[in-house]
Amino acid sequence: MSEAIERVGVVGAGLMGAGIAEVAAKAGSSVIVCEMNAAAAAAGRDRIESSLNRAVDRGKLDPGERDAALARVSFVTDLHDLADRQLVIEAVREIEEEKVEIFSTVSKAFIDDEAIIASNTSSIPIMKLAMATTRPDHVLGLHFFNPVPVMRLVELIPSIVTDVDVVNRAEDYVSGVLGKHVVRSQDRAGFIVNALFVPYVISAIRMLESGFASAEDIDAGMVEGCSHPMGPLALADMIGLDTIKHVADSMYDEFKEPLYSSPPLLSRMVEANLLGRKTGRGFFSYTR
Ligand SMILES: NC(=O)c1ccc[n+]([C@@H]2O[C@H](COP(=O)([O-])OP(=O)(O)OC[C@H]3O[C@@H](n4cnc5c(N)ncnc54)[C@H](O)[C@@H]3O)[C@@H](O)[C@H]2O)c1
Repeated sequence: MSEAIERVGVVGAGLMGAGIAEVAAKAGSSVIVCEMNAAAAAAGRDRIESSLNRAVDRGKLDPGERDAALARVSFVTDLHDLADRQLVIEAVREIEEEKVEIFSTVSKAFIDDEAIIASNTSSIPIMKLAMATTRPDHVLGLHFFNPVPVMRLVELIPSIVTDVDVVNRAEDYVSGVLGKHVVRSQDRAGFIVNALFVPYVISAIRMLESGFASAEDIDAGMVEGCSHPMGPLALADMIGLDTIKHVADSMYDEFKEPLYSSPPLLSRMVEANLLGRKTGRGFFSYTR
């Protein structure tokens, strides 16, 4: 019988990794975060601290809990320092070669034969990462949603060789310890949510591109007509058009279905660095 997971590692402390480290630390786990260098680690720590401070300001966390959570997180810049972790969650950019390198190094460094390595990938098939490791049966996907402290959903993606005990142990941790709502998906690019969401956003972009309707009217249609909190184009701007394109490209590679192919307008906007909120302009303009 494997021990309950208490020691967690996170690779990458960007938007998603910082959020994953925060929820794990708040839930009482010991967390080691690995970043590229000291500056990136400091930025990651700031991200976690600011998010915890916002929770205190909103009365959702008391200052003592914030300090205790922060004290449970430490930062390193060498993947070998994750050797004693029972679960490592990788959250670096959506670039397959970078993830493969990390999976290979971390799996070789693990001390514990039962240690699990998971990816927060939005679209890369888990099997591609599993085969880079020394233990493909201890690899799975754990896809958190942004912002991690707020969004309850986690997609759990076993590959066709993931050990059933590994799946159950990961689910016990994510659901029982982190309090997330876990849904299980087969290992297909896009998993459940993006397989439905990406064709929807792409259809909205094609509608705009063809002159069928304006960006404002497309978004108003879904907000006022379908009670969505945001229209598809504003949501694409929030996520980042580069991210949408990466995910769509991965899904197109997998299925070769036109409904996943990036419309030329999306490709041109990414090439022009019109990525949405993060660059100040996407389908709409934002003052930064
Ligand atoms: N942004 C979203 O809304 C979202 C939602 C769900 C899943 N995801 C997925 O989560 C993953 C991370 O996305 P993100 O938006 O947080 O990216 P990000 O660019 O904000 O963060 C990536 C971090 O990884 C660090 N990093 C890069 N290489 C590293 C290495 N070798 N070792 C340690 N750290 C390294 C970078 O310094 C950076 O801080 C991606 O796979 C993405 O598809 C993103």
